[in-house]
Amino acid sequence: GPPAAARAALGPAPARGPVDYTIDRAQVVRAVLPALDREAIRTTIGELSAMKNRYYRSDTGARASIWLRDRWRSFTSRRDVTIELFDQGYPQKSVILTIPGTTRASEVVVLGGHLDSISFGGTSATAPGADDDASGIATLTEVARVLLAKGYRPARTIKIIAYAAEEIGLRGSQAVVKDFKKRGIDVVGALQLDMTNYQGSAKDIWLMKDFTSAAQNTFLTKLIDTYVGATWGMDACGYACSDHASWYRAGVPASMPFESRMRDRNMQIHTANDTLELSNDNADHALKFARLAAAYAIELGKGELAPAVRTAAR
Ligand code: BES
Ligand code: ZN
Repeated sequence: GPPAAARAALGPAPARGPVDYTIDRAQVVRAVLPALDREAIRTTIGELSAMKNRYYRSDTGARASIWLRDRWRSFTSRRDVTIELFDQGYPQKSVILTIPGTTRASEVVVLGGHLDSISFGGTSATAPGADDDASGIATLTEVARVLLAKGYRPARTIKIIAYAAEEIGLRGSQAVVKDFKKRGIDVVGALQLDMTNYQGSAKDIWLMKDFTSAAQNTFLTKLIDTYVGATWGMDACGYACSDHASWYRAGVPASMPFESRMRDRNMQIHTANDTLELSNDNADHALKFARLAAAYAIELGKGELAPAVRTAAR
């Protein structure tokens, strides 16, 4: 488990006990995964990276939040599914989509990535951030689209979060974690997708070992082997490189499946050259992460598809 200091930061241990990583929702996962569409991911990366930048203090960064909220809202007319802007005092807001749980609603599964981008020159710089991290946001967007299209009703509550202000020190995720802690929200797991579309190494998915949960990482390797059909390895960032560290520090089991080994990383991030062209102009690599994230949401969120949709899908 997390170190004592992290455990203490979380407050009293949740009454539910440790997370039970079972894989028993194959029927739901196998109904959902084929609907994930690489073209939809590619299009969303293109739209996000066409913005001048998504800097947390710029107008375009602020508009990116509104744009994403509206995109996520368009996926369903369900009134129980909420999409909210989380204001932490910056022009750019975090965006939080919530699919409420049916039978274990107080237990929350978080899937996240960061909406902001950065490049030398701040508010006025060109920072497409196609890989870092339009790729992660586009991957999550496709997972949200398909889960909602299939009428997924999780047992646990699922929250998909686009964090603001990661690039300046994980400030968006820190604000979200602090707010959840204050409200006593029991997060059973957090998955971070930060850079999913540049294949720099031979193996596909790299699980960062630092600032993450070994038990949840093992669960992810089983999900990859069972459902994704991709190769994987273990590596480390070597520092608190993304928003998973904010959850880890709060004692929440966190994971960071990454697009390459650290030594083979995309060297164009944080420049005007972080473009979709650099990822072959397609989203083939990101699709593997969408499959993993959907499997994670379903196998940790449990629950069922709406009966009407399940019948229609047969
Ligand atoms: N996506 C990067 C982190 C990253 C880069 C992971 C390359 C693995 C390989 C993230 O957006 C970032 O730039 N993080 C900062 C640190 C953060 C605390 C401001 C970094 O890596 O310098
Ligand atoms: Zn990033």
